Amino acid sequence: MTDQSTITQRAHTWDIPNTPEAVGEARTLAREALAEWGLTGLAEAAELVVSELLTNAIRHGAAPILLMLSAAGPAMLAGSVSDGGPGLLRLPPAEPDLNATGGRGLAIVAALVKRWGVWPDSGGIGKTVWFSLTAEPSETTETAGDVPVRGTAE
Ligand SMILES: Nc1ncnc2c1ncn2[C@@H]1O[C@H](COP(=O)(O)OP(=O)(O)OP(=O)(O)O)[C@@H](O)[C@H]1O
Ligand SMILES: [Mg+2]
Repeated sequence: MTDQSTITQRAHTWDIPNTPEAVGEARTLAREALAEWGLTGLAEAAELVVSELLTNAIRHGAAPILLMLSAAGPAMLAGSVSDGGPGLLRLPPAEPDLNATGGRGLAIVAALVKRWGVWPDSGGIGKTVWFSLTAEPSETTETAGDVPVRGTAE
C-alpha cells in the first residue's frame, strides 16, 4: 500500500488493494495519520468509518479503491473512500431490522460522522463516499433521506 500523494502535510491519499487484508492495514494508516495531526480523539471513530467504507468498497464495489484522509481543522477530519464499481449504496432503513445479518455498516457510519454523502463519478461508473468527523457531538448528521445517492437497482 503506497502513500500516493501527500498534497500537504495534512492530507494523505492511499491506493488500497482490493483484498480484505487491506482493511486492517488501512486502519493502522488512519491511526498513524490522526496521531500525526493531533486528532487522536477522533481515531476510534475514524478507524470504524474507514473500516466499514473500505470493506464495502472491497465487497460491493471494485478497483481502483482510494482512501483519502485530511485534517480539515484542529478538531475535524475529512475523508473519503472511492471505488470504481458500478454498484449503488443501499441506505440504512429508519427502523433497523434487528434480525438482519448484514446491512449495518452504513448505519454505523451515519451514527458516527458529522456529515456524509455519496458523489457518483461523472463518468457514471464509480463513486466517492465522503464524510467528516468532528470532536464535538454530532449536530447535523444526515438522515438516510438527505444523502444524495442514486436509487438502488432493485
Ligand atoms: N461501495 C459500494 N459499492 C456498491 N454497493 C455498495 C457499496 N457500499 C455499500 N453498498 C450497498 O449498500 C448496502 C448496504 O451497505 P452496508 O455496509 O450498510 O451493509 P453490508 O455491507 O451489506 O453489511 P455489513 O456492513 O453489515 O456487513 C450493501 O449491501 C451494498 O448493496
Ligand atoms: Mg458493509
